[in-house]
Amino acid sequence: MDRTILFHIFAAVSFLCIFPITCLSKTSPNITTDQSTLLALKSSIALPPDHILVNNWTTTTPTSVCDWVGVTCGKLHGRVAALDLPNMGLIGTIPPHLGNLSFLVQLNITNNSFYSDLPEELANIRRLQYIDVKVNNFSGQIPQWFGAFPKLVHLNVANNSFSGSVPQDFGNLQSLKFLNMRFNQFTGSIPPPIFNISSLEVLAFSGNSLSGFLPKDVCNHLPNLQFLYLARNEIEGQIPPGLQECSKLQVLSLSTNKFTGRIPSEIGNLTVLEKLDLDSNSLEGEIPREFGQLVNLEVLSLYGAGLTGLIPSLLFNMSSLEEIDLSKNKFSGSLPRNICPRPLLKVLFIWRNKLAGNIPSGVGNCTALSGIGLQENNFTEYGQEGLVSTNCDVYSFGIMLMEVFTRKKPTDEMFTSDLSLNRWVSEALVNGVTQAMDSRLIRKEEEHIFAEVNCVSSIFELALNCTAESPENRINIKDALALLQKIRLEFLAKLLEN
Ligand SMILES: *[C@@H]1O[C@H](CO)[C@@H](O)[C@H](O)[C@H]1NC(C)=O
Ligand SMILES: *[C@@H]1O[C@H](CO)[C@@H](O)[C@H](O)[C@H]1NC(C)=O
Ligand SMILES: *[C@@H]1O[C@H](CO)[C@@H](O)[C@H](O)[C@H]1NC(C)=O
Ligand SMILES: *[C@@H]1O[C@H](CO)[C@@H](O)[C@H](O)[C@H]1NC(C)=O
Ligand SMILES: *[C@@H]1O[C@H](CO)[C@@H](O)[C@H](O)[C@H]1NC(C)=O
Ligand SMILES: *[C@@H]1O[C@H](CO)[C@@H](O)[C@H](O)[C@H]1NC(C)=O
Ligand SMILES: *[C@@H]1O[C@H](CO)[C@@H](O)[C@H](O)[C@H]1NC(C)=O
Ligand SMILES: *[C@@H]1O[C@H](CO)[C@@H](O)[C@H](O)[C@H]1NC(C)=O
Ligand SMILES: *[C@@H]1O[C@H](CO)[C@@H](O)[C@H](O)[C@H]1NC(C)=O
Ligand SMILES: *[C@@H]1O[C@H](CO)[C@@H](O)[C@H](O)[C@H]1NC(C)=O
Ligand SMILES: *[C@@H]1O[C@H](CO)[C@@H](O)[C@H](O)[C@H]1NC(C)=O
Ligand SMILES: *[C@@H]1O[C@H](CO)[C@@H](O)[C@H](O)[C@H]1NC(C)=O
Repeated sequence: MDRTILFHIFAAVSFLCIFPITCLSKTSPNITTDQSTLLALKSSIALPPDHILVNNWTTTTPTSVCDWVGVTCGKLHGRVAALDLPNMGLIGTIPPHLGNLSFLVQLNITNNSFYSDLPEELANIRRLQYIDVKVNNFSGQIPQWFGAFPKLVHLNVANNSFSGSVPQDFGNLQSLKFLNMRFNQFTGSIPPPIFNISSLEVLAFSGNSLSGFLPKDVCNHLPNLQFLYLARNEIEGQIPPGLQECSKLQVLSLSTNKFTGRIPSEIGNLTVLEKLDLDSNSLEGEIPREFGQLVNLEVLSLYGAGLTGLIPSLLFNMSSLEEIDLSKNKFSGSLPRNICPRPLLKVLFIWRNKLAGNIPSGVGNCTALSGIGLQENNFTEYGQEGLVSTNCDVYSFGIMLMEVFTRKKPTDEMFTSDLSLNRWVSEALVNGVTQAMDSRLIRKEEEHIFAEVNCVSSIFELALNCTAESPENRINIKDALALLQKIRLEFLAKLLEN
C-alpha cells in the first residue's frame, strides 16, 4: 500500500482516538435531533397559551415528532422532511438549530410574523427544494449562501423587509423554477446570472428599489419563463427587443419603472402573452402594429406610458382583449366607429389624451362593458366629462346605462314578455339593487358597499326615467348627462369620506 495513504489513515485514526469527545458529537443525527431542533424552534416563538403548538409539540405524550402538527417525515429515513406552518400567527425568530434538519425538503412558514434574519446554518440543509417564507417580517440581506442549495426549485421571500442586493450566486441555482422576491427593499441591479437559470418559469421582483438596465439578451437563456414581474422599481433604459426570446411568456409586467425609448415591435412575437403591463414609464413613439399578433392578449395596460400617435384600430379587433387602458398618454386622432366588433370588451379607459372626433356610436355594442372612461379628451359632441352622446336619444342612453350596470342585454334569455330589462331593474330598486347589479361591480371592501349601492340605485332611477314609456315623461338628455355627472361626483365624495 502506498505510504502516503497509510499515513492519512493513521492520522485520521489517531485523530479519532485522541479526541473521543469530538467523535461522539459527530455521530449522525437522528429523529431525536429533529425533535430537539423543533423544540428549539418552538422556544424561539412567543406562543399564547391556547396556541395549538403549545400542547401539540410536546414530549409529554409518547407520540413521535412525526405526528406533530405541521410536520411530515420522509418514508425512507423517517426524518423530518417537511415543515408546514403557514397562517399560524407565529411571532418569533428562526433559531440556528433549524440547520440540523438535514433531511428537510420543504419549509413553509408563510403568513406569520417571523422577524430578524435567516440564520446561516440553514445553508446546511442540502436537500431543500421549497422555501416559502412570504408575508413575514424578516429583514437583513439575503445571504450569498442561498445560492448554495443544489436542489432548490421554489424560493418565495415576498412581502418581507429584506434589503441589500440580490445575491449574484443565485445564478448557481440551476434547478430553480420559481423565484419571488416581490415587495421587499432590494436595491442594486438584478444580477445578470439570474437570467441564465434556464429552468426558471416565474421571476418576480416587483415592488423593490431595483435599478440599472435589463441585459440585451435578457431572454436568451430563459426558454421556460412564463411570468416576468418587474413592476414598481427604478429600472431604466430601453425595453430589450430580446424579450421576444421568452416565447412562453404569459405575463410581462414592467410598469412604474423608468423605461425610455420605443416599445420594441418584437413584443408582438410573444404570441402566448395574456397580460402586458407597461404603465407609468417614460416611453415614446406609437403602439407597434405588431401588437395585432398578440392573439391571446386579455389585458393591455399602457396608462401613463408616455406614448403618442394614433390608436391602431386593430386593437379593437384583437380576438381576446378584454381590458384596455390607454389613459394619460398623448394619443391623437379619433376612435374607430365600431369600437366593439366583438362584444368581449369589459374595460376601456382612454381618458386624458388628445383624441378628437365623435365618441364612437358603436359603444352601444360593447355589451360586456363594466368600466369606461373617455373624459379629458377633445371629442366634439360630448362635454369634457362626457361619457355618451348628446345626440343619442335618451331612450338608448337609458338602455345603455342598464346594460352597463347589470351586464345584461335586453335580449338576454332571462327576459320574456312578462319580464323586461326595465321591469327587472325597477323591481330591483324595490327589492334590493344588488339583485340586478353586475356582481363584479360590488367591491370587496365593505365600507364602500353602501356608497356603491346608492350610486347604482341613482343610476337605475335615472335609466328608468330615460326609458319611461311616454317620451314626454322622459328627462331630456342634457339634464340626464348632468345628473349622471352629479351621481358620479357624489359617489367619489363618499369614497373619500371613508
Ligand atoms: C439518536 O442518537 C442519540 C445519540 O446521538 C441516541 O442517544 C439516541 O438513542 C438515538 N435515537 C434514536 C431514536 O435512534
Ligand atoms: C397534534 O396534532 C396532530 C394533527 O392535528 C394530531 O394528529 C396529534 O395527535 C396531535 N398530537 C398531540 C400530542 O396533541
Ligand atoms: C394569515 O394568517 C392569519 C392567521 O394568523 C389568517 O387569519 C389569515 O386569513 C391568513 N391570510 C391568508 C392570506 O391566508
Ligand atoms: C444543532 O444546531 C445547533 C446550532 O447550530 C447546535 O448548537 C447543536 O449542537 C446542533 N445539534 C443538536 C443535536 O441540536
Ligand atoms: C405554503 O402554504 C401556503 C398556505 O397553505 C400555500 O398557499 C403555498 O402554496 C405553500 N407554498 C409552497 C411552496 O408549497
Ligand atoms: C411587521 O412589523 C411591523 C412593525 O415593525 C408591524 O407593524 C407589522 O404588523 C409586522 N408585520 C407582520 C406581518 O408581522
Ligand atoms: C404584499 O405587499 C403588497 C404591497 O405592500 C400588498 O399590496 C399585498 O397585499 C401584500 N400581499 C400579501 C399577501 O400580504
Ligand atoms: C450564461 O451562460 C452562458 C453559457 O452557458 C455563458 O456564456 C454566459 O457567460 C453566462 N452569462 C452570465 C451572465 O452568467
Ligand atoms: C417575429 O414576428 C415577425 C412578424 O411580425 C416575423 O417575421 C419574425 O420572424 C418573428 N421573429 C421571431 C424571432 O420569431
Ligand atoms: C354593432 O355591431 C354590429 C354587428 O357587428 C354592426 O353591424 C354594427 O354596425 C355595430 N354598430 C355600430 C354603431 O358600430
Ligand atoms: C379641440 O378641437 C377643436 C375643434 O376641432 C380645436 O380647435 C382645438 O384646438 C382642439 N383642442 C385641443 C386641445 O386639441
Ligand atoms: C323624469 O324626470 C323629469 C325631470 O326630472 C321629471 O319631470 C319626470 O316626471 C320624470 N319621469 C318619470 C317617469 O319619473
